[in-house]
Amino acid sequence: MRKMQHVPVLLDEALKYLNVQPGGVYVDATLGLAGHSSAIAKRLGAKGRLICFDRDPEAMEAAKARLEEVRAEIGSEMPELVFEPRAFSEASSLIEPGSLDGLLADFGVSSLQLDEAHRGFSFRSEGPLDMRMDTRSGETAEQVVNQEDENELADLIYEFGEERRSRRIARAIVRARPITTTAELARVISAAAPSMKGDKIHPATRTFQALRIRVNDELGEIRTLLKSAPSLLKPGGRLVLISFHSLEDRLVKDAFREAGRDKIFEVLTKKPVVAGEQEEMRNPRSRSAKLRAARKI
Ligand SMILES: C[S@@+](CC[C@H](N)C(=O)[O-])C[C@H]1O[C@@H](n2cnc3c(N)ncnc32)[C@H](O)[C@@H]1O
Repeated sequence: MRKMQHVPVLLDEALKYLNVQPGGVYVDATLGLAGHSSAIAKRLGAKGRLICFDRDPEAMEAAKARLEEVRAEIGSEMPELVFEPRAFSEASSLIEPGSLDGLLADFGVSSLQLDEAHRGFSFRSEGPLDMRMDTRSGETAEQVVNQEDENELADLIYEFGEERRSRRIARAIVRARPITTTAELARVISAAAPSMKGDKIHPATRTFQALRIRVNDELGEIRTLLKSAPSLLKPGGRLVLISFHSLEDRLVKDAFREAGRDKIFEVLTKKPVVAGEQEEMRNPRSRSAKLRAARKI
């Protein structure tokens, strides 16, 4: 596998709000390429434990290799690592209630997933229309694009992509079927709904986001995590969540508001924490990141 460059988003802020205590028990719900986990591992010490979830087997392998480099660096100070190659919605059936000092989730896709054309996440390269994070099972984007009826397709592009031209795009997709590659789909969308003056994003961005969210049930996963997190954390335990678009952030914001009102959480971030100018320049992905954190009461 190609060696991946990965820059974790809002790393200092995530570590600050997670408040990593040596000897503590932490979950990284979205291990990815272990950017955040490497930094957490270095602070945990030999008595600590880090439980890492990722439902993408390729990411899990890349992350294990990265964490071995950390082990080589810090030796006997390495905490215990537990790998859970599955969805974070399963956390509540695997983790003892009230046992966690902190849980971090950095939602969405990783640079590994976006950069590898064969995963089918990117409209910028020619790949199969897959988009599954967990490549072991489940419906692919190709199945959704070629089998869903036009109205359903339009609704999902509107709901999960917040795309105003969803009806026009869905009609063009249905006419162009079968569509089997990412580049082909991107061409169909661009022809149906070309860039307009002032558009900053590629015409296919929102439709690709919608398909990805649907294929991976991304919002359902976040809802389940938000429900189970309070019971997994110890009193004083921290929940730190990084979102990348308004649909994700809205779920987090609403759940925190409710849990704050019910005195389950103290919300630590009145407004979402965003990247500074320097980070935005270094790492374009950080431009849309929003971090929210809470402390279990
Ligand atoms: C943005 S990346 C995380 C990057 C990571 N924080 C780092 O610094 O390297 C998100 C990762 O979470 C995984 N993921 C997304 N949703 C998931 C879910 N519901 N359950 C388990 N893993 C998930 C993806 O496969 C991807 O590898």
